[in-house]
Amino acid sequence: MTKSIDKPTIYVTRRWPEQAEAALYQHFAPTFNMTDEAISQATLVDVLTAYEGIASWSSDRIDAGVIAAASGGRAKIIANFGVGVDHIDVAAARAAGIAVTNTPGVLTDATADLTMTLMLMTMRRAGDGERLLRAGQWRGGKPTQMMGRSLQGKTLGIIGMGRIAQAVARRAALGFDMEVVFWNRSPVTTITGYNARQLDDVDSVCAAADILSLHCAATPDTRHILNADRLALMRPDAMIINTARGDVIDEKALIAALVDGRIGGAGLDVFQGEPHIDPALLAAPHTVFLPHMGSTTREARTAMGMKAVDNLVAFFAGKPVLDPAP
Ligand code: DGY
Repeated sequence: MTKSIDKPTIYVTRRWPEQAEAALYQHFAPTFNMTDEAISQATLVDVLTAYEGIASWSSDRIDAGVIAAASGGRAKIIANFGVGVDHIDVAAARAAGIAVTNTPGVLTDATADLTMTLMLMTMRRAGDGERLLRAGQWRGGKPTQMMGRSLQGKTLGIIGMGRIAQAVARRAALGFDMEVVFWNRSPVTTITGYNARQLDDVDSVCAAADILSLHCAATPDTRHILNADRLALMRPDAMIINTARGDVIDEKALIAALVDGRIGGAGLDVFQGEPHIDPALLAAPHTVFLPHMGSTTREARTAMGMKAVDNLVAFFAGKPVLDPAP
């Protein structure tokens, strides 16, 4: 009788698209969090202790305390479903002998598209218009009603010029004839097919932008990179767009600028302390909010799951993982 080879056990902290779940079953013995709701840090400790791998999600806070509490546990890899790993203490995990992977590349277009959605919604007042209509207050158009602004000819400022930012810049430059200026911590030499100027500092980008879009990873260095001082440098009609992470904006400072009319508006997909949203932010004028859905297309989410599976397969085959977390 041939002995069946046990498949590695993987705890998956949320449900995945069907194709990606099927791929997991093909290679592993997965256990899914069937509630599909956030799980506690105590549960994260338990699953790191009991399972050989964890497939995590952006709101699972796997910090140094969780990793220490699970020390000596079975988990040897955290395969994150998503590109951002600010919710995982990657250094602590690696020090504990746990590999960490992410899913770069496959959500670039989806997130860039949603960034353009927010730019168009804020500049064209789509949120205001929809609220007016739904409130039954639309009494027919007037020449001056709901006047927004076009993107054409405006300057897009970008903070953090990685893959997603470059996809946004391409759309803005080629699709909307926008000027693009950006700040990045290192020189960017990968731009082809459109024009974008790298400026020396974040302040200069803030000062130049009609629309400022944040795309840097959330790290201690980028926390509140858009703060009260930088908001004060901006044009009073400038729009702020954020599809990166809530922590990169000082939300209190943004709320004050919006309420005082010192900034034109904001389109936000991510928030400090999400899913809780500061009620003062919700009440602030000229805003459009989405529930962290930058990569939420069927295509991107399936590809993210498949990439996480590929990383797990490589790891358990004893090969280098494809996407070690930065
Ligand atoms: C990511 O990939 O980091 C997205 O924000 C989804 O969590």
